[in-house]
Amino acid sequence: MAPEDRIHIEPLAAEDVVRLAALAREIWYAHYPAIISVAQIEYMLAERYDADVVLAELRRDGVWWDKLTVAGGMAGFASYFLTGVAGEMKLDKIYVHPRFQRRGYGGMMIERAGAVARARGCNRLVLAVNRNNRDAIAAYLKHGFRVADAVVKDIGGGFVMDDYIMVKPVAGDPSTVLRTGQ
Ligand SMILES: CC(C)(COP(=O)(O)OP(=O)(O)OC[C@H]1O[C@@H](n2cnc3c(N)ncnc32)[C@H](O)[C@@H]1OP(=O)(O)O)[C@@H](O)C(=O)NCCC(=O)NCCS
Repeated sequence: MAPEDRIHIEPLAAEDVVRLAALAREIWYAHYPAIISVAQIEYMLAERYDADVVLAELRRDGVWWDKLTVAGGMAGFASYFLTGVAGEMKLDKIYVHPRFQRRGYGGMMIERAGAVARARGCNRLVLAVNRNNRDAIAAYLKHGFRVADAVVKDIGGGFVMDDYIMVKPVAGDPSTVLRTGQ
């Protein structure tokens, strides 16, 4: 079997949640200490990857979690949700383990989020990325996002997010754009 036949992007299941949290911790500690403090990493991991938080999101309408599996092991994940703003899907999380980065998997997960967004009548994906996260910003630019805004957001615990807001058009059908008034 060719290696690419062993790559899957599919919905995250409840039984994946423990593995997801461990993978998130591994990726965050490989990537974020150069960008944010360890205290902020711990705060955000607890806030976003606690099993109960993820399980509640899996049950909610308008929220999607995908897992990337390479040769049978979880190598990355993404989540995205309808923001409630007409035409807008937010790509909330996208992570690929460093061992598997720069192989196009991030792009594949963005494509899938874009396809779900289109199917739900959206015309754009939006995301927030730390202004100092240069590799991720480069990845987003490569995959069709553009910087639309810069924001500083209080996330509690004494921490702030110093982010760019990036936007990628995803509408294939111009009538979708007209319908949502964008
Ligand atoms: C951002 C991320 C999801 C992209 O996934 P990916 O599978 O590496 O993406 P792709 O292979 O589709 O795109 C690769 C592009 O991303 C950028 N990139 C990704 N990883 C990089 C790295 N380690 N060093 C430099 N550039 C990198 C480059 O622009 C690269 O293009 P190039 O190889 O032609 O130079 C992944 O690198 C990642 O998880 N990074 C760490 C966590 C993170 O910052 N997540 C985003 C939070 S907002």
